[in-house]
Amino acid sequence: MEGKVLLKLRENPDNFVSGEKLSEYLGVSRTAVWKYINNLKKEGYIIEASSKKGYRLVSGQDILNEYEIGYNLDTRIMGKRIYCLSSVDSTNNYAKKLAFEGAEEGTLVLADFQTSGKGRLGKSWASANKKGIWMTVILRPKIPPEEVHIITLAAAVAVVKALEGSTGISAGIKWPNDIILDNRKVCGILTEMTCEMEAVNYIVLGMGINVNQSYEDFPCEIRETAVSIKEYMIKKDMKFSREFLRNEIIQKILFELEQIYIKISNGDFTDIIDEWKKYSVTLGKEVRAISKSNTFTGIAKDITKDGRLIVDCTDGVTREVFYGEVSVRGILDYV
Ligand code: BTN
Repeated sequence: MEGKVLLKLRENPDNFVSGEKLSEYLGVSRTAVWKYINNLKKEGYIIEASSKKGYRLVSGQDILNEYEIGYNLDTRIMGKRIYCLSSVDSTNNYAKKLAFEGAEEGTLVLADFQTSGKGRLGKSWASANKKGIWMTVILRPKIPPEEVHIITLAAAVAVVKALEGSTGISAGIKWPNDIILDNRKVCGILTEMTCEMEAVNYIVLGMGINVNQSYEDFPCEIRETAVSIKEYMIKKDMKFSREFLRNEIIQKILFELEQIYIKISNGDFTDIIDEWKKYSVTLGKEVRAISKSNTFTGIAKDITKDGRLIVDCTDGVTREVFYGEVSVRGILDYV
């Protein structure tokens, strides 16, 4: 019911909606309407109330919930079921449990805060409360396990497009799946999979996007390499400073992800690789690949159809780097 109240208030952004109209629309008493309004206020919504005029929603509030994301969500698969949590260890862990219990494809898990956010290669992921998007989507693709990396590449492309569409910023992709703004990381993607010999049971696709953090919100050790959308915008134009609405960005990501996922489901990987290359900030650069057993340097030349990075190494050998094995660093900078 709270969702329906929000919908009515949103349809009238500049006007009050009377308690009587709301009670007619919902088919409940005015006392019940008042109760729903109070629930929304408890969630953090600012709603102006006037005994004569009714209720008016004050706009621009960044409250993460399924009504906000579901409102005008233009997808068939992604986000059809949404779990919004105020705190969780890791949205990927939570999603894995749901997937194991049979949650449907496209189920979305979101949290305001992660107590043990996970990054790639066993690292942790700083997930400041309400400052970023910490989200995981459950997927059940009908592709063989060895092709699953395409989903991570596709997700990176989807995030770049979504950031462009919702905030106007042009980000780049550092192989395989870091989203970069001015040489700093604004988003990381962690894909985890459970599979049988030849089939994928499910994938949890976790995305962490730094949205409204300021420099001090990041742990000291990543302050020079991480950035939020807000911080980036402030640096670009000192006059411009606003909080970005996480729900809007999430909606765009779900939309873009679905478009690309449909292509994957149709076996069409070429477009994804081409788009990935278009946004790449790694290709043509000098890189150092660091694994547990080996380190080598060279020029990143291309990626293969299955997402491996091709590096022309300084020792004359051309090597293919698989993303699960190594960390790739630029020689001169983070990228
Ligand atoms: C990376 O190291 O670049 C990957 C970071 C992935 C972070 C996201 S935040 C939401 C989801 N839940 C997690 O625990 N990790 C991913």
